[in-house]
Amino acid sequence: MSLPTNSKVFILNRSIDDSGVKASGPDSHFTLTTQPVTLPSPETPNFILVQVLAISNDPAQILWFRGGARDMAIVGKADPVKTYGIGRVLAVGKNVGKFKTGDLIFDMIAWAEYYTYEPTDRAYVVNGGRPLEFPLSTYLGILATSGLTAYVGLKNTLEFKPGQSLIVSGAAGSVGHVVVQYAKNVLGASKVVAIAGSGDKCAWLEKHGADKAVNYKSAEFTNELAEAVGPDGADAFFDNVAGRVYDAVLPNMKLHGKVALCGAISQYNSKGTYNAGTHMVVLIRRLHVIGFTVRDHYDETPNFMKECTDAIKSGKIWIGEGTETVVDLRGKFEGIPETWAGLFQGKNNGKLVSILAD
Ligand SMILES: NC(=O)c1ccc[n+]([C@@H]2O[C@H](COP(=O)([O-])OP(=O)(O)OC[C@H]3O[C@@H](n4cnc5c(N)ncnc54)[C@H](OP(=O)(O)O)[C@@H]3O)[C@@H](O)[C@H]2O)c1
Repeated sequence: MSLPTNSKVFILNRSIDDSGVKASGPDSHFTLTTQPVTLPSPETPNFILVQVLAISNDPAQILWFRGGARDMAIVGKADPVKTYGIGRVLAVGKNVGKFKTGDLIFDMIAWAEYYTYEPTDRAYVVNGGRPLEFPLSTYLGILATSGLTAYVGLKNTLEFKPGQSLIVSGAAGSVGHVVVQYAKNVLGASKVVAIAGSGDKCAWLEKHGADKAVNYKSAEFTNELAEAVGPDGADAFFDNVAGRVYDAVLPNMKLHGKVALCGAISQYNSKGTYNAGTHMVVLIRRLHVIGFTVRDHYDETPNFMKECTDAIKSGKIWIGEGTETVVDLRGKFEGIPETWAGLFQGKNNGKLVSILAD
């Protein structure tokens, strides 16, 4: 195959502010442009060239675009927007021993058709180079950062034990559905109460591990949540959402219950402020509220991959409709930003993956 000479890429043309993201149209935050492809060379012996096959759509990217992590999305520079994804290696620099042409690798890559860069420490060959056992998208969802986040949040942060009860927000999302399934079907939770944004998502969750699922958009959400949890309260809360959902959950916790702060998707589009009263509930209930990030737990990846793959194969974790929303953007590169922004409108069930090429 002859190597590409040009690549479409998206760059961030300005930081996102409190008025929220514009993913399309003349005032979009993202500019589509074409750049020449540079090959790994004697000046860049540690670089590789990949064809981007599939990209992960993650809520945290908006924090990069708001200026939280400037190396991820550099405004006004030619660097393409960064994303986790899977690429096929087309060329390697002479110092790159870890990867070879033809490998499919998981890494932090970019909103680009082709991308030349120095692999990060986290880069690995998908499924250890063996033939894929699941669809490619699964290696961006449950068998990648989303699954690992669910796994370490339950096991390390919450130290979740068989027989305990759990509340999960953002439960139909990429991290959330793994938390629900893993807690109930692998770790032996006595009760899992899931929170999601539609009746269909709630019905799906009740089919796949939740004892009860509650729609946070319901006018009766607070009462329905209390009824679902019951008078004993929950031992643990895995929060992906923050804001008013978080506020509604805390009074349903047992004394000394544990709360894992995983994410705050309800707050990412604006600088939402927390109700100070929430912190009084934390105090009065003596809750253990623990922030965590999957970055501190990457060394758990091999254990996680083995346990999670076994759980999928044994049927304890279901994958299929509802665990992934796969968007075919082959020949439709310009659809990347709008697809990603759908995360903030709840358009996805499970992991939202964009496929760019075969
Ligand atoms: N700590 C870490 O290391 C780490 C790692 C990965 C992810 N995270 C965080 O974990 C959270 C979930 O990530 P994910 O990849 O699983 O995303 P995701 O759930 O796949 O996608 C976002 C979902 O959140 C829900 N949502 C959107 N806006 C909302 C709002 N205002 N209030 C309540 N729910 C809302 C939507 O579903 P509904 O239809 O239910 O609204 C949407 O489908 C995010 O906050 C992310 O930043 C943290």
